[in-house]
Order: sequence, then structure tokens, then C-alpha cells
Amino acid sequence: MQSSLPNEQFLQIAKEFGTPVYVYHAEKIKTQYEKLVNAFSVLDTKFFYACKALTNINVLRYIKSIGCNIDCSSINEVKLALHAGFEPRNVLYTSNGIAFDEIEEAVSYGVNVNIDSLSNLEKFGKKFGHNYPVGIRIRPNIMAGGNIKISTGHSKSKFGIPVEQLDELKRIVKENNIHIRTLHLHTGSEIKEVDVFIKGMEVLFELMPHFPELEVLDLGGGFKVPYHPHEKEIDVVAIGAGLKKAFDEHPTADHKKLQVWFEPGKFLVCEAGYLLTQVNVLKANNGVTIAGVNTGLNHLIRPMMYDAYHHITNISNPAGAEQHYMVTGYICETDTFADDRLLNEVREGDCLLFHNAGAYGFEMSSNYNSRYKPAEVLVKDGGAQLIRKREEWDDLLKNQVI
Ligand code: LLP
Repeated sequence: MQSSLPNEQFLQIAKEFGTPVYVYHAEKIKTQYEKLVNAFSVLDTKFFYACKALTNINVLRYIKSIGCNIDCSSINEVKLALHAGFEPRNVLYTSNGIAFDEIEEAVSYGVNVNIDSLSNLEKFGKKFGHNYPVGIRIRPNIMAGGNIKISTGHSKSKFGIPVEQLDELKRIVKENNIHIRTLHLHTGSEIKEVDVFIKGMEVLFELMPHFPELEVLDLGGGFKVPYHPHEKEIDVVAIGAGLKKAFDEHPTADHKKLQVWFEPGKFLVCEAGYLLTQVNVLKANNGVTIAGVNTGLNHLIRPMMYDAYHHITNISNPAGAEQHYMVTGYICETDTFADDRLLNEVREGDCLLFHNAGAYGFEMSSNYNSRYKPAEVLVKDGGAQLIRKREEWDDLLKNQVI
């Protein structure tokens, strides 16, 4: 699996900023964004980067600079988006299970809001009536996504208003004269089947006649990117063509009147990010040597949380003879990054590069074992710039009452 930057540059970054360090490649984000723009040019489409994947303010500013909008999952993400300079109309707030006062706060900023429960919708209706166009998140009862922990549209999921509660939904909308502008769904992450998006769209088409003021169909995020060298990216061109066909064949849905929105997270930033680490210790272990690195599940939780595969390369010894390694972290509980992985010969002090670390990497990191969170570096126009300092001693004590 090729990285988008040369090994020498990573080694230079390790030397200059230390390890572990998250490295993001700006132009790779742009390439991914342009793929989406081209694939969906057959429709009137707007993209909102699901910033829960990676919220460094410098990354947000870069994403804004390439013309992309932003989707947020908490009121603080909304505030970060506004702080990064996004205009309210280009900010979307799609949340789950939040208190109504966060929705009121979002409305006070003038951002787009998708509501995901009948309870909050009713409160919204009582407060704002027809004054604030809003979106509703539907649970379409579609099973999709890479694994159950990241599937959100199935019939037992906590997300969205179950599609079978349509009568109650209609009652609340009518009684409060709510201006429904958007129908939203998001079925999961790492979706590789084109059909899932078409099926989702068909569910929204069915609901469409009940919401005459509709302007937007929002299909969420979830586009699969390859994590393993044998995997493929989802065919976004086929999704674009499939959706266009679905519109063309539908008796009333008009793609010139309805905008289609997407909320890609991983597709934009996953492959643009790397976690750069160094090998602390080697341990012989029945033919599979254990390589212990200077990071752990505190910095990249995905392997332990989702059994996720992250490709690893030994950038210090790329021509070394391949051998089997178990790559583990330094946390005082089992934190295995790879069980039995062929790597170019690993020596203590070598730099190991973890791929696909841009999405939900730093963002899900913690201070477990009282370790500092790593630094973040952005490579843009060939130059590497520090965009978050590595934490230090004072950060660990900052909020403790001593
Ligand atoms: N829109 C909504 C409403 C979402 O809940 C999500 C992700 C997205 C968009 C973006 O999905 P993406 O394009 O990134 O697949 N931490 C997990 C992924 C959790 C995704 C949560 N929602 C992981 O590391 O795999």
C-alpha cells in the first residue's frame, strides 16, 4: 500500500517533531473531494465534511478553502466550524440524543439542523413553528456498514425517527406547522455497496409526498475507503449514476428541484492521515517477533475497538527482508495493532507508519495511562507545519483540583 508522501519526508518529520505524531497530507484530501465533486456532477449536490472524523482547526480551514461545507455532531463542533470561518448556511448540525437546548443554540447561530427524534421535533415545533426550515433524520431500517458498531440505519438502531412512525411524524409536523426542508438518513460507515445509497434514496422518495416544502435529500456519509491492500474504494461514480437514474425513473422526484447532500468523513480524510511511531522494544516470541511501539490504543483505538485493519510499513528499512511481527502498543492492557504481519525487518528505533489514520484517529485519542496526546502535522504544498503541539506535563494536571 503506497503512502501519498515519500518515506524520507516522514523520517524528516519524525526527526523534527518527534514521535508519535499524526501527519495529514492536505492535497490527498483535495483529491478525494474532487473525486466526489466529479462523481456527483450529474446531480445538484452539496458536500458537508463530517468533521467528527478529524477536527483540527487547520484541517477545517483547509477543507473550507477547497470549497467543501461541514457537518457537525455536537454543538462544540458547530462552534469550531464557525471559528474556522464557515458561513452558517454551510454548516450542518446532525446530532443524536442531544438536549433540546443544543438545538436552540444551533438555531441561534443560523446553521442547518437535522433533528433525530420525535421528542425534539415536537419541542422544535412548539418553539419555532414554521419560522426555521429544518431537516429530519429518518431511520430507514437498512442494514449497512463495515461492522455492527458502525451501522446506524438498521431496525434496532438508536439513530433517527423510525420510518414506521410516519403517522406520528406527520401529526407533529402538521400540528406545529413545521417547515421540513430536508429528509436525512445515514446508514453506516464503510459502506461498499452502491445499492445501499440507492435504496436509501428510494425510502426518502416514498416519504417525499408528505413534505411539500422539501428542498433537500441528505444521504449522510459512509463511503468506503480501502484500509487493506486488497480492498477497493466504493464506486462513487456508480452511486452518482445510480441516483440520477433513480430520479429519472421516478414519476415526481425532480433532481433539478431537489438538492442532494452528503456528509463524507472517512472518504475525505482517512487516507490523508498517518500515525508515525517508533519501535521501543523487540521481543522474541515463537517465530512471531513482538514489536512494541511508542503509542497504543490511547492514540489509535480502532484496531482494539472495531478489529480494524491498519496497514503498517517500516519506513526506516523498506528494503529489509520480510518477517512476521506482532505489533503492539505500550499500554498496560492488551493493545494489539497487528497480530501476525509481514513487515520489512524491524529494528529497535525504526519508524513504523500506520496508514488510514486520518479519520477517527487523533479524534478518538485519550490520555489513558497518563500518556500525552500526540502532536499533529499538516503537509501542504510540500512543507510540513505543526498544527497541534504534543501535550505536556501541565496538560495532564490542568483540570485536576489540587
Ligand atoms: N453523517 C453522520 C450522521 C454520521 O453519523 C457519520 C459518522 C458520518 C456522516 C460520516 O461517516 P463516514 O463517512 O466517516 O463513514 N469511529 C468509527 C466511525 C464512526 C462513524 C460515526 N458517524 C470508526 O473509526 O470507524
